[in-house]
Amino acid sequence: EPVHGRHLRRSSTSRSRVLASPTVTESSPSAPHPALPERPPFVVRARVLTPTSDGGTTFHAAGIVEVDATGHIAWVGPAGEHERAAKRRPDAVSASGGSPSPVADLRPLVLLPGMVDLHAHLPQLPNAGLGAGLDLLSWLRRYIFPLERRFADAGDAAALAPAAFRAFAAAGTTTVLAYGAVYAASMDGSFRAAEAHGIRAILGKVMMDRLTYDEDIVPSSILDQSVRETEELCARWHGAADGRLGYAVTPRFAVSCTAEMLHASAEIAARTGAWWQTHVSEDPGEIAEVARLFPEALDYVDVYDRAGGLGRRAVLAHAVRLSDRELARLVETDTRVAHCPASNLFLASGIMPLARYLEAGLGVGLGSDVAGGPDPSMFSVMRVGAYAQNARRTLLGESFTPLAPLDWLRMGSLAGAKALGLDDRIGSLEAGKEADLILVDAGLTAPVRHADHGEPPHEQIDNDPADIASRFIFRAHPDMVRGAWVRGRRLDGPGLVSGA
Ligand code: GUN
Ligand code: ZN
Repeated sequence: EPVHGRHLRRSSTSRSRVLASPTVTESSPSAPHPALPERPPFVVRARVLTPTSDGGTTFHAAGIVEVDATGHIAWVGPAGEHERAAKRRPDAVSASGGSPSPVADLRPLVLLPGMVDLHAHLPQLPNAGLGAGLDLLSWLRRYIFPLERRFADAGDAAALAPAAFRAFAAAGTTTVLAYGAVYAASMDGSFRAAEAHGIRAILGKVMMDRLTYDEDIVPSSILDQSVRETEELCARWHGAADGRLGYAVTPRFAVSCTAEMLHASAEIAARTGAWWQTHVSEDPGEIAEVARLFPEALDYVDVYDRAGGLGRRAVLAHAVRLSDRELARLVETDTRVAHCPASNLFLASGIMPLARYLEAGLGVGLGSDVAGGPDPSMFSVMRVGAYAQNARRTLLGESFTPLAPLDWLRMGSLAGAKALGLDDRIGSLEAGKEADLILVDAGLTAPVRHADHGEPPHEQIDNDPADIASRFIFRAHPDMVRGAWVRGRRLDGPGLVSGA
């Protein structure tokens, strides 16, 4: 399904100014806001911007989102309609006086669906921003393997993981599909941290039985041990916290895995219904090494195909340089791809031919790939992705229609949820879905403060959803995410000092 948000809907109030008072405009980011709701049920009034399941985008300048006691979105729409709708539903969370949960008015802040990060590395977060421009295999050896070895100390993992989840939430990410390290104890600590924090997390212990950093394991027993630990972790954590946590069987990539390990990993995923994640076709040196290690395979994708890894539960990261055959095979098997443009330029891996992939019908979401990418923010991933596609158009003369800001926003939310097979539950603000929300301050993304500029100069921009999305992406501010919720439960992270 294409990510284009062609059908833009606005509620009837969207053209009017949100705020009558000239003293409080969206250019006052420090204006006091009501306390944010901590847990469901609650009703909030805000500007509401969301992709929708039918391929469109909806914007309400004065919107209401009603979250029921189970953490589901009971109602979303323009404020004017809410009261009428609530009267027809006596069981609804009351929206007016004398109610158990009064409406918190969060305007002019903007409610969006929480972002979905399809690819990140938990133990690598401390390294974010370091090592730009090295080729992948050198970067892994020099920067990454020594860092991941620190997770041999389960205490290190237990200390880092909560900070990592706060950092993701602070960036606006409410669902993350992430790699851990090779150490089983560190994975238990990471899952426990996710369970306590409240983020939606799908994690997996990294499996490597060659080109590995695990110096304490006898090489001959790595495969068996890794398979056994993966099965145990999957049994413990897949579907835990009422389905908020999930397990992803995680063979690192073909360079680090024998065909036997790849095969065993795919078998576990198929048997348990867990996800299966790995890297593919990222960097020329890596691709050449895979061809050397797997001479019997047609190409890189075929290595995973032969192992039984492809399919709708598989999320392959990068896929920068797929041949037509590889692309067709991923589409045919309904395999999903995590597009990581910031990482791909940080490590000079290349620029994915995104338009060609979307045209072919590939399921694509976005990944930060921290620390291959320097920033956990999906908004900055969108920005780099947009710039990178413009580079393709200008340097290679490609003539595709570029994605618009609302298309990128969809890719970072609903398309990511769809790649995980979770789009019936998350990814957009629609009634019946679980309340995974973020609250974003557009004032921090404005180029000039309206108050310093006399009359609010760009009235139409304030309530144009495409313009709001454009600023979130191209002028993303590290503090712009003011709140984040999963199932209506507020997450720690937003509002802390950036990166804390
Ligand atoms: N390929 C194998 N491992 C990694 C990793 O940790 N990061 C990236 N970007 N690519 C990889
Ligand atoms: Zn990666």
